[in-house]
Amino acid sequence: MKNQEKADKYESVLLQIKGVTDGEPNLVANLANISAIIYDAFKFWWVGFYVVENNELVLAPFQGPVACTRIQKGRGVCGTAWKENKTQLVEDVHAFPGHIACSAASQSEVVVPISKNGEVKMVLDVDSEHLNHFDATDANYMEQIGAFISENLL
Ligand code: SME
Repeated sequence: MKNQEKADKYESVLLQIKGVTDGEPNLVANLANISAIIYDAFKFWWVGFYVVENNELVLAPFQGPVACTRIQKGRGVCGTAWKENKTQLVEDVHAFPGHIACSAASQSEVVVPISKNGEVKMVLDVDSEHLNHFDATDANYMEQIGAFISENLL
């Protein structure tokens, strides 16, 4: 997909997210719809959220195959994004130390931490069955989605 085409698609995704969550206070409902909007637009392998609960990441609304339920801080790509409070853009998950393979098909991944008042509350995790599927445009828009959630839905 060309970069402009991708950016246009993400702009449309952002608009849909704003529209569908407008006036809706239920976080689970909003996260469910946000994962569906991203999944539908790009047909990624897996799109979803893990929320911080009792110092663990716990599986939250997602689209795609069954996934691991709990992830410890610092473990895998998600646990690293949480621990470092930093987006992880992973071209090849097999080269990432400690990567947690929920699905053998997953080859590349982007994980964005979502914080409120400096504390990570959840992560947005997107997986692809293709190697090197994500670039800075994906990471940037996933961060914009994360910022929208933090500012409007948490
Ligand atoms: N691969 C992730 C685990 C979550 S699944 O991809 C849905 C990780 O290493 O943290």
